[in-house]
Amino acid sequence: MTVHDKRHAELSTLLQKHNYEYYVLDSPSVTDGEYDTLMNELKALEKAHPQLVTASSPTQRIGAPPKDGFKRVTRAVKMYSLDNAYTDDEVRAFAQRIVDAVGNDFSFVAEPKIDGASIEVTYENGQMVLATTRGNGTVGENVTLNVRTIRAMPLSIPEKRTLTVRGEIFIYGADLDAVNELRASRSEPTFANPRNAASGSLRLIDPRLTAERPLRVFFYDLVEPYFESHSEMLSHLDGIGLPTHRAEKRCDDVESLLTYIKEFGESRQKLPYETDGIVIKVDEIPLRDELGFTARFPRWATAFKYPAERRTTKILSITADVGRTGALTPAANLEPVPLSGTIVSRVTLHNLDLIKEKDVRVGDTVWMQKAGEIIPQLLSVVLEERPKETKPWKPPTHCPACEEKVVKADGEAVLRCVNKECVGRLKAGLRYFTHRNNMDIENMGDALIAQVVDAGLVKDMADVFALPEKRKALLVLERMGKKSVDKLLAAIEAARVGRSFSRLLSGLGIPLVGTVGAGTIAEKYRALPALLAAKPEDVEKDLAALDGIGPKMAKSVADYLADDFYRATLEKFLSLSVIAKEPEKVVVAGGKLDGMSFCVTGTLSRKRGAIHTEIEANGGEVHKSVKKGTTYLLAGDKVGKTKTDAAAKKGAKVIDEDTYLAMLE
Ligand code: IVH
Repeated sequence: MTVHDKRHAELSTLLQKHNYEYYVLDSPSVTDGEYDTLMNELKALEKAHPQLVTASSPTQRIGAPPKDGFKRVTRAVKMYSLDNAYTDDEVRAFAQRIVDAVGNDFSFVAEPKIDGASIEVTYENGQMVLATTRGNGTVGENVTLNVRTIRAMPLSIPEKRTLTVRGEIFIYGADLDAVNELRASRSEPTFANPRNAASGSLRLIDPRLTAERPLRVFFYDLVEPYFESHSEMLSHLDGIGLPTHRAEKRCDDVESLLTYIKEFGESRQKLPYETDGIVIKVDEIPLRDELGFTARFPRWATAFKYPAERRTTKILSITADVGRTGALTPAANLEPVPLSGTIVSRVTLHNLDLIKEKDVRVGDTVWMQKAGEIIPQLLSVVLEERPKETKPWKPPTHCPACEEKVVKADGEAVLRCVNKECVGRLKAGLRYFTHRNNMDIENMGDALIAQVVDAGLVKDMADVFALPEKRKALLVLERMGKKSVDKLLAAIEAARVGRSFSRLLSGLGIPLVGTVGAGTIAEKYRALPALLAAKPEDVEKDLAALDGIGPKMAKSVADYLADDFYRATLEKFLSLSVIAKEPEKVVVAGGKLDGMSFCVTGTLSRKRGAIHTEIEANGGEVHKSVKKGTTYLLAGDKVGKTKTDAAAKKGAKVIDEDTYLAMLE
């Protein structure tokens, strides 16, 4: 070894140590200036002796952007997500299931659930060679270049070890505030929470931009080699310089676990990073192997989620918006308040009864929280803080959009605008009609819909297809240059010829007819002319006889067809050459999925429509909901409990995407 080799190794080790002290331990032993001096010395040394530069040198963190974006990487061991527990009893039930399966002789280990983006990192012969996002669990994206820029991430580990670790990339709360402040000053959108900031930063194409984000990492899992217990594994990672949270707590039984959960709940706000709960795991790894996994979760771990954050704020005003069915939905405008990661300034009050029941008034101070960490919810009014002069809220007597009198049906808590030509209803109806799930007309956003309705260019749903004849009028609308108009018209043409009858039907928003009902009706009549040719009373009879259509839905369709205004709209579709034919189902003989039926749900790695086509192309049948006879519920991430419950009830087997893909192989 030459003197240069030696100094190069010394400087590399020192810089890594300083990074670790700064970004992991939060206790730097040198100033920024001293750090820079060392880095400059290393750079100068490498400039003079280019042969010293290695991939894991601290000077090599930031590389050039990948040419063709991120490559997909299939991993050997799937990354699972975690089931949730929200109450002590749910934790006890989780513990009991484990005791029932493997007996009493084990410990729990509890650790912070870090709110960030998960990552898998592979080291080969001591060098960091690969970092991938979670993706769908099996297939992730190669974000190695971006992960290399994270200064807490060692580019090399001692003794030329080969191993694969998993953990969380995250950002400190204070760092996120600083990043957001900077972004706001540049009129860039701010990040709603640490998780968005972390995953957004990991997926930037240019690593130089990722390098500007103060990201950090904690590891909580070693895929291989094997250790006997989680606690041992974590101290091993710590020992070789891989950052861990150092906050794990072993608990011998469920009651001491619950005590710890309570304690941590009181202290977690003091941590510099955001946690959304506690991850509870079985400490003994051989027992984990025995317990195994369900389709989506390990049986040996769960996430305890703390109850949502609650805050008070003031009601500035209460307004009611009209929806596509004519229902007026009251909503409160609030003094903006930060809540579970976003700023909330509006909350729906659902209906009149709710306002009455909670006695919500303008000027009131109210308790707010987010349901499921996402949807703002008004909990209650703080009566002690009610100003003297407030009055109960008076529901509107007239529609805020068209000013027609509103009606309230007996026994209903909803006020309705029954004017079929109401512009408010039309706008909401058009949003639904053009939505990706229905006629899928791209480029027709809320602002444009409002403009075409207000300008009188669109008076019913069918008028959308007359817009190409009104090019000149479109060109004078706000934000509609030649290019945007061309794009819009192309999207309309695509929808005119390329959408199925069931999409047209579901887009109309006929009361009680959802996508499943629309599909059944479309299969029966195949296209609009046949439906229009039938007498409404015959349609009612014929539909009521079909599987999946009840008498109420059948009547609703008949009423719609018998209505002059709606019938005129339907006829206009025909005169405007909207094709909307229901395609014949292609049946493949000898397909791999012959005789099987699938209901597809949750977040999958591909668009649901593509999977539907694939199932049918392989001889399988697609069920839009789980019904009797559905063979499989293909469940992606974030599957609702209603779906899995329905599967259990109707005897459908729940499978994940990998299992499904294996069927096609
Ligand atoms: S263990 C099979 N431990 O939470 C076990 N996950 O909801 C898989 N997370 O995707 C995960 N902190 O990104 C584990 N201490 C921790 C964690 C943690 C955060 C994330 C992780 C995972 C998600 C599951």
